[in-house]
Amino acid sequence: MEKFDLIVLGGGPAGYLAAERASQGGLKTAVFEKRALGGVCLNEGCIPSKALLNSAKIFDYTKHAESYGVHVTGPQLDHAAVVARKNKVVKALVSGIGMKMKKEKVTVIAKAAKITGKSAEGFTVTDGDETYISDRLLIATGSVPVIPPIPGLREGIESGFCLTNREILELTELPESLVVIGGGVIGLEMASYFNSAGSKVTVIEMLDKIAGPTEREISEILLKNYKKAGVDFKLSCKVPAVGKDGVTYEENGILKTVAASKVLVSIGRKPFTEGIGLETIGVYTERGAVVTDDRLRTNVPNVYAAGDVNGKLMLAHTAYRESEVAVNHMLGKKDIMRYTAIPSVIYTNPEVASVGETPESAAQKGIEAKTVSVSMRLSGRYLAETDDGNGIAKLVADTKNDRLIGVHLIGSYTSEIIYGAALMLETNLKIDALKELVFPHPTVCEVIREALFEI
Ligand code: NAI
Repeated sequence: MEKFDLIVLGGGPAGYLAAERASQGGLKTAVFEKRALGGVCLNEGCIPSKALLNSAKIFDYTKHAESYGVHVTGPQLDHAAVVARKNKVVKALVSGIGMKMKKEKVTVIAKAAKITGKSAEGFTVTDGDETYISDRLLIATGSVPVIPPIPGLREGIESGFCLTNREILELTELPESLVVIGGGVIGLEMASYFNSAGSKVTVIEMLDKIAGPTEREISEILLKNYKKAGVDFKLSCKVPAVGKDGVTYEENGILKTVAASKVLVSIGRKPFTEGIGLETIGVYTERGAVVTDDRLRTNVPNVYAAGDVNGKLMLAHTAYRESEVAVNHMLGKKDIMRYTAIPSVIYTNPEVASVGETPESAAQKGIEAKTVSVSMRLSGRYLAETDDGNGIAKLVADTKNDRLIGVHLIGSYTSEIIYGAALMLETNLKIDALKELVFPHPTVCEVIREALFEI
């Protein structure tokens, strides 16, 4: 029975980074991964979708090249070639993690792990054949798609007509029409790619807005851009049934059907905690999520949980930081997890990026906030590069404390700009101090500086 200082369950962003850091810190570490290192993010989420979206962006450029003085004849997007390229990118990154694990002397066990209990020597974990023992555990088993009990949906998934984020990224043939149930991050990113690539895309969303918690005006601008690009939206619509070649939705009490070659189900994800033996050691869960504190500790001493499985913020970059905090705590280093300045990005065209409070969330918390909004067209670079751009930068300030508490952007490069805004929130500098920052010119990020002077 091999003994470890730390066993990590799950080799996604939380798990593999924790294993790396723990090993560097001197802990004898094993990571169990039943599928592929890198988890959902690397294999069927963040990275593959970005590869697809980049191909779509290049294709879109060719469609609009004429107005930029570039003549392009007969551009075509070869979906199978796009997917083949995506697979190459994923393979390279997955093998990179494998090499990293080897270099850091982490034991990788390519099997599903199940906790079986606790003995005097430590926690016991089995892979079905062998038993392992560890002083500490890190639960990093991630999340799985929510599949609602809509009649016809299970059958649709079994037949391959309905897809989740995993299967849609594997399609080698472009569907003639794609119906997306759920206009959140996954739904929008996939709608963006397949629409650009040539599918007829319809998004059915039960709320009256897309992109979930995204600031309302930015969500509306995004919707306008999608509609202009040709995506059809059915907002405030429920889906009572999925058929064999279409989806039924209810609009103002009337049942209608939209035909589909394929259906994507993207109505959210839930923590994955089933069958991993948490009950054998008494780990407390709430609505399926492992409950953790700001050191990522569970209620059981020496058992931690990081990433989607704790249900806090299902983002890979949150998982990275959480795993560092958990490992630092194991190593006796002072560290604490803060969730207030974590950026979120939707990699559509244009990109949406936000951090901190929206005007609505600030009002709900009773914060005296001032919101200012400036057009991206104030940026010389934006104007030089973007015809008909309607991007904005919206800043939310706590005027009583003279601090910036939210930044919301829609436009080009915003995914790369937002970390600077997160830094502004994280460092808690006064607005006057932020105004002293020198931004490179000409850049799109200069709009943040423009907006700071509007507060
Ligand atoms: P989501 O929570 O972002 O969006 C789900 C949407 O489906 C919501 O707008 C919701 O109102 C709607 N919905 C729920 N039930 C519905 C129903 N029955 N009919 C119609 N609409 C319904 O979830 P999504 O897009 O599945 O993404 C899952 C997770 O993956 C998110 O937590 C997200 O953080 C993460 N993710 C992050 C990305 C990024 O950071 N760029 C990219 C992709 C995923």
